[in-house]
Amino acid sequence: KRRIGVMTSGGDAPGMNGSVRAVVRMALHSNCEAYAIYEGYDGLVKGGDMIKEMKWEDVRGFLSEGGTLIGTARCMEFMQRDGRRTAAKNMILKGIDALVICGGDGSLTGADRFRDEWPSLLEELVKEKELTPEQVAPFKHLNIVGLVGSIDNDLSMTDATIGCYSSLARICEAIDSVDTTATSHQRAFVVETMGRHCGWLTLMAGVATGSDFIFIPEQPAKEGWEGNMLNIIRKHRQMGKRKTIVIVAEGAIDERLNKITPHQIKEILSEAGLDTRVTTLGHVQRGGQPAAYDRMLSTLQGVEAVKAVLEATPETPSPVICMIENKIVRRPLLEAVAQTKKVAEAIEKKDFRTAMELRDAE
Ligand code: F6P
Repeated sequence: KRRIGVMTSGGDAPGMNGSVRAVVRMALHSNCEAYAIYEGYDGLVKGGDMIKEMKWEDVRGFLSEGGTLIGTARCMEFMQRDGRRTAAKNMILKGIDALVICGGDGSLTGADRFRDEWPSLLEELVKEKELTPEQVAPFKHLNIVGLVGSIDNDLSMTDATIGCYSSLARICEAIDSVDTTATSHQRAFVVETMGRHCGWLTLMAGVATGSDFIFIPEQPAKEGWEGNMLNIIRKHRQMGKRKTIVIVAEGAIDERLNKITPHQIKEILSEAGLDTRVTTLGHVQRGGQPAAYDRMLSTLQGVEAVKAVLEATPETPSPVICMIENKIVRRPLLEAVAQTKKVAEAIEKKDFRTAMELRDAE
């Protein structure tokens, strides 16, 4: 029987548990054995009890739980070749030669590198007499399949990452709450949202809550933005709006690539006569139960990931499971990561048009 490992890595995201559940159950359904690797790459390097066989009932209740119940970590040891060699040894000792990883682009790139190095890692293990040639013989190839778990929705080639819609819902709930007190006092609120270098959460929250103004990394604020923002806010007030909501992505910048901060905006609004407060939503955005969409996405993608493992040949590039125009599809993992990096590079070069095109492109 094939043994398939599943792990979560990088920042947690609502829906990750749904993907673990789906991988475990689809593996069992496909007559394979399933193993959970606890605490991300840390568990792979430590081995032993950190790699546990999972039965059908072990993932009962996972679907509606937030965070990741098998843990996640940012592992420094796995970044070193020695750490990856130990990880390979631990996998062989457990009989695992396929890994499904739910994480962000960094975690997925690390996994693909591990796959590339796999044959040479095994050679080393034999040379150093850590394993015998007989022990490594059945494990010639490592299968890696990526699932994108991140609230940021920042990976190119997929319309939605596991967790982004839960986070969006949480942000909207929070802004709705801010709205009631803002309206009561006729105040302005500057709300800071997460997303790293991606403005998806902010843009969508702006649309979904009807906010007055937003700042996102992909569309840096043009010179004179202060006056433009105030004009729009004044117009809204003249139309009878009793509150002002400005949402600032944590990666927001101006055209000169200077960071735009919530406190800077608060100063501008206060000077214009608005009683202003700043609300930083922080990790509330990443916590709590997954929305229905993420339960569905993680389940469908987890099932597809196991299918991809079973259909892989040594020549197949590692796939990442994506959602494009409402369809679950496979794309080459490295291409998706490379395109994501190009977006960041285009933003750094102030080539915002290319950045937007790349992000939109399949
Ligand atoms: O990638 C998810 C994310 O929540 C980003 O939106 C944010 O910038 C970052 O992680 C925060 O990381 P940490 O949890 O390590 O503070």
